[in-house]
Parts: sequence; structure tokens; C-alpha cells
Amino acid sequence: MIRGEKLSKRYGDVDAVASTDIQIKAGAITAIMGGSGSGKTTLLRLLAGLDAPTTGHVWYGDEDICSLNAKRLYELRESMGMLFQYSALLNSLDVYDNVAFPLHEHTDLDEAVIRTMVTMKLEQVGLRGFESMMPSELSGGMAKRVAFARAIAMDPKIVFFDEPTSGLDPISAGVISTLILNTSKMNHMTSVVVTHDVSAGLAIADRVILMWQGRIIAEGTPTEIRESDDDRVCQFLEGRPDGPIPFSRSTTSYIDDLTHRPGTVRMAS
Ligand SMILES: Nc1ncnc2c1ncn2[C@@H]1O[C@H](COP(=O)(O)OP(=O)(O)OP(=O)(O)O)[C@@H](O)[C@H]1O
Ligand SMILES: [Mg+2]
Repeated sequence: MIRGEKLSKRYGDVDAVASTDIQIKAGAITAIMGGSGSGKTTLLRLLAGLDAPTTGHVWYGDEDICSLNAKRLYELRESMGMLFQYSALLNSLDVYDNVAFPLHEHTDLDEAVIRTMVTMKLEQVGLRGFESMMPSELSGGMAKRVAFARAIAMDPKIVFFDEPTSGLDPISAGVISTLILNTSKMNHMTSVVVTHDVSAGLAIADRVILMWQGRIIAEGTPTEIRESDDDRVCQFLEGRPDGPIPFSRSTTSYIDDLTHRPGTVRMAS
């Protein structure tokens, strides 16, 4: 249903996403996993049409999202929800208006209907009764749950979740993972979930994609990924510090940087 073709995104001399082909199956949950800086958020933003790729295309059926006019892009956006990595709530709006925002923006539903829909979404994330709180008064985990309620407010066909459970306590994380699973299955929703949470990703996904340095290094069902004998996949799943995936991405000598030798100050991203 969504197809990225030879997608790349370059920032300066960093290939955040490098010549990547990816297919997102309709009605399924796809988990995109990988280490920090491996390009997950960048890929998600390209797929959602929030950023334009440096090269390549993103196909929704036979439409290339990169060359749609503003009107058609707006229509397509009505069927999408997005949960951003850092919640991105609107600071001047309270919890109710944040969750109601897409409904106000894209529908002309009666306010009483919108209130019912917002109440249902807040109940799902355990925050009914918190409608009048401002984003600055919320904990990180509460903000994440409000952002989740906003992402699913319109009962979208496609939802992009960027780290939906990071910063949440285990119970809230479990509730959100179950909610993604249940709403995806009940509404035949297409979900793309970027997550560091290996066990949650493997538990809820129909298909798992593993990234490293802007490229897809493995993909398959959770069982195929668990049984992979690729060293990089094993290191990531086991969370081992030593292995083919380095923890530090600095390209200069540590000793040179400590001793301020000239020409050594550039850091890799
Ligand atoms: N707007 C930007 N400007 C410059 N560089 C960027 C920008 N966005 C991402 N990058 C770079 O692209 C690379 C991939 O970043 P990205 O945010 O996609 O990683 P990620 O896999 O989501 O990491 P994390 O798990 O830490 O969220 C990084 O090297 C990052 O510094
Ligand atoms: Mg990210």
C-alpha cells in the first residue's frame, strides 16, 4: 500500500536514509527498529510525506506523495495520524483541544460529537478527567499518551508512531502496545511503529524492519528476525555493547580530541 522506492535523505555529509526500498503492507503493523541515529525517524517522516526525500519516491497506490498538489496532500493527510517522537503537543492548547485538534481541523462535526470522541480516546489512554491541563503541566509519559490519543482521534487508516512507548512506565507502555495492536486489528489500520523497545516491537508487529546507518539490514516476521543469525541483528536483539554495530560513531581519534590536536574537532553525526 505504501512503497518507498530508492529513498534517500542526506543532511550535510550524513546519509540519514540511504537508497532504501521499503514496502508497508496495508492493514498490518510494521515495526521499524534499530539503534539511535540509524535513520528510523527520518524514514518515518519520508513515508508520512512530512519531509521530501533527497532522491526517490514514496508511492501511496499509484500516487507519488512527493509530487501531489497541496489539496490532494491535505486530503491524504486526513486519513493519517502521526505520533511524534517528542510528542509535539501544541503548548497553547489544553489536553482537550490538542486531542480535538485534528477533528476541528479536518471535520465539521458538532462539538458534542467531538467531545464524545475526545472522551473515548482519553479514556483509552487513561487520561479522562485531565482535559483542562496544559502541556507544560504534564509529565513526559502523560504528554506521550495525549499525543497518542491525538494520533488516533480521527480513527485514521494509517498511523505513524515514533517511539510510542519510550518514557512510559511498564504498565502504560503495555497499555499503549496493546492499544496499537487492538486498534490496528479492529479497524484494519495500517500502523508503522518506530521503536527501541525490542520485546514490544517483536510482540505486536506483523513485519519487522531493522535499520543501521540509514539502510535496512534485515526484515521479516518477528520469528524470522528472532531466528536470524546475522551478527548485527543478534547484537541489537541482545543489546550487546560489543559487536559489528559500534556504540560511538565518532570518526576522529579520542586521544587527538582530548589533547586538542589541530584538525580533529569534526565529529560524525
Ligand atoms: N533535521 C536534521 N538535520 C541534520 N541532520 C539530521 C536531521 N535529522 C536527522 N539527522 C541525522 O540523521 C541521522 C538519523 O537520524 P534519525 O533521527 O532518523 O535517527 P533515529 O534512528 O530516529 O534515532 P533515535 O533512535 O535516536 O531517535 C542522524 O545522524 C541525525 O543526526
Ligand atoms: Mg528517532
